[in-house]
Amino acid sequence: MGKEKCVLAYSGGLDTSALIPYMMEKFGYEMIAALVDVGRMQDLEGLRQRALDAGAVESVVIDAKDEFVRDFAFPALKANALYEEKYPLHSALSRPLISKKMVELAHVHGAKFVAHGCTAKGNDQVRMDVSIRCLDPSITVLGPARDWNMTRPELLDYVAARGINIPLTKKNPYSIDENLWGRAIECGELEDPWRAAPEDAYVFTVSPENAPDEGVELIIGFEAGIPVTLDGKALDPATLVETVDKVGSAHGFGRVDMVENRLVGIKSRETYEVAGSLALIKAHREIEDLALTRELQHFKRMIDQRMTELIYDGLWFSPLADALRAFVDESQKYVTGEVRLKFYKGSCSVLGRRSPNSLYVGKLATYGSGDTFSHESAKGFIQLWGLPVEVWSRKRQGLL
Ligand code: ARG
Repeated sequence: MGKEKCVLAYSGGLDTSALIPYMMEKFGYEMIAALVDVGRMQDLEGLRQRALDAGAVESVVIDAKDEFVRDFAFPALKANALYEEKYPLHSALSRPLISKKMVELAHVHGAKFVAHGCTAKGNDQVRMDVSIRCLDPSITVLGPARDWNMTRPELLDYVAARGINIPLTKKNPYSIDENLWGRAIECGELEDPWRAAPEDAYVFTVSPENAPDEGVELIIGFEAGIPVTLDGKALDPATLVETVDKVGSAHGFGRVDMVENRLVGIKSRETYEVAGSLALIKAHREIEDLALTRELQHFKRMIDQRMTELIYDGLWFSPLADALRAFVDESQKYVTGEVRLKFYKGSCSVLGRRSPNSLYVGKLATYGSGDTFSHESAKGFIQLWGLPVEVWSRKRQGLL
């Protein structure tokens, strides 16, 4: 009987590199390493080679940058997805995509096992396990890093003993997860929520103090809820997101420092660099302000909120998420227009917005001349609007 095949969601880092020999030696699997590129990864070929050096029979890099932005980040943007009002979910959004790629690869290779390097304390293990089980319940998901009980120094010894070369870039104390939608920085000194995040935790963003004295304006064009142009120029999704992120980050915008409620029950201090996603969500909301009716907008907030929780909680692939996405897509038909953003020393402000579907009617809103709003109707409307409370009050006061 041949060896069982196992597809590994490989990142090139210490844990997933160690997982290759670990799973071969301990369980006898034949390991297939797959690195999903969701943006911002460097030296992909070097990382791919490292998996082979570690003993994988095959090592592939899957370019999923466009798919990530188009099919995961943008649908979340349409729902203005910000977990606990702050975190744009870049990690949470990548896991269902990585899971999907692992399942596809498992099918190609006839593998019945998929492994990941998530630890036992994070949300990502939930997202990977649940996504894979939803996509193919016949696959067994393995997360050995949850219980191998090796400390970081032990892991380093473990890989070194097997000749796996992991260049230790100084001693990087942080746990990082980054892609086109953002960057998460955890662990190390950040574990003390009172202590200010050290400057070296941030890589994409300059500190607002060091940002240029001159701000910059950017016009973001949306079509049906999706950003398509920058300063009038059409860009592909990944380039557009990357550009907004670069501009915002260069002006000190996009740092988030929060205490977050994890799904697994713990509160954790999280820092993020999310200039692009935050700015785009901000801009997107502006077009919704113009193009959606009050009723739809207010109702959509509840949908947005629920959708955000589903994404965070690992239920991207679920009947409820599908149904909510259908609602959100319907709501976005007319969310077309442009927003003027200004980045300046850590801030991102909205200077203006316009839409061909704008429901803002100058003649109704104006306090100047040419007013067509019916002042007479206002009086009648308020008469009836206030009637129930007036009746209630009269009754209380013995006037009825
Ligand atoms: N707290 C965030 C989340 O749960 C970020 C997770 C970052 N992931 C990581 N493996 N470092 O979505």
